[in-house]
Amino acid sequence: MHKDIETVLISQKKLENIVNRLAKQIEKDYNDKEFIMVGLLKGSVAFMADLMKKIDLDFCIDFMAASSYGSGTESSGKVKITKDTTFDVRDKHILLVEDIVDSGNTLNFICNYLMTRGAASVRVATLCDKPARRKVPFDPEYVGEQIPDEFIVGYGMDYDEKYRNLPYIGILKRSVYE
Ligand code: IMP
Ligand code: MG
Repeated sequence: MHKDIETVLISQKKLENIVNRLAKQIEKDYNDKEFIMVGLLKGSVAFMADLMKKIDLDFCIDFMAASSYGSGTESSGKVKITKDTTFDVRDKHILLVEDIVDSGNTLNFICNYLMTRGAASVRVATLCDKPARRKVPFDPEYVGEQIPDEFIVGYGMDYDEKYRNLPYIGILKRSVYE
């Protein structure tokens, strides 16, 4: 285990089970719908790479990036889109892939944005969900795991751009950021 990790919250094996379960659900729901899978950079990369390979349907992928977090552990509340999709989303079903929903600010903003751009529907698959920290109401359709109010890293998620490459999700030691 990495020296900055307090405990492993979601092991590699458990991540695999979560991904398989969500992929099956998505496959069933989008069986008759053409959709674009849109990953939110950078946190979703590990999850999306594993998830897309388990969905036996034809679909395109795209990416967006938004900033609201600085280098701290608290959301600033202000969301800015720093990279938009390359595809036109008009009349398309969009499945957003996210690492974690925390305050809900980011996804609330992005879902509204995609709807104003004319998307036919927008749904969200998030690996982790911290419902206790919501500042705006937000209910993702596909949730991997609900987690306690702790700062977590790994499997795409970072603190100050580090730890994204850990193959598991762990709780970061408070001494790293306090
Ligand atoms: P929200 O806008 O507050 O919901 O924040 C969402 C973004 O904050 C996520 O996409 C993550 O990039 C980041 N974030 C929130 N909680 C954590 C965490 O515990 N570890 C790492 N990143 C987090
Ligand atoms: Mg993120």
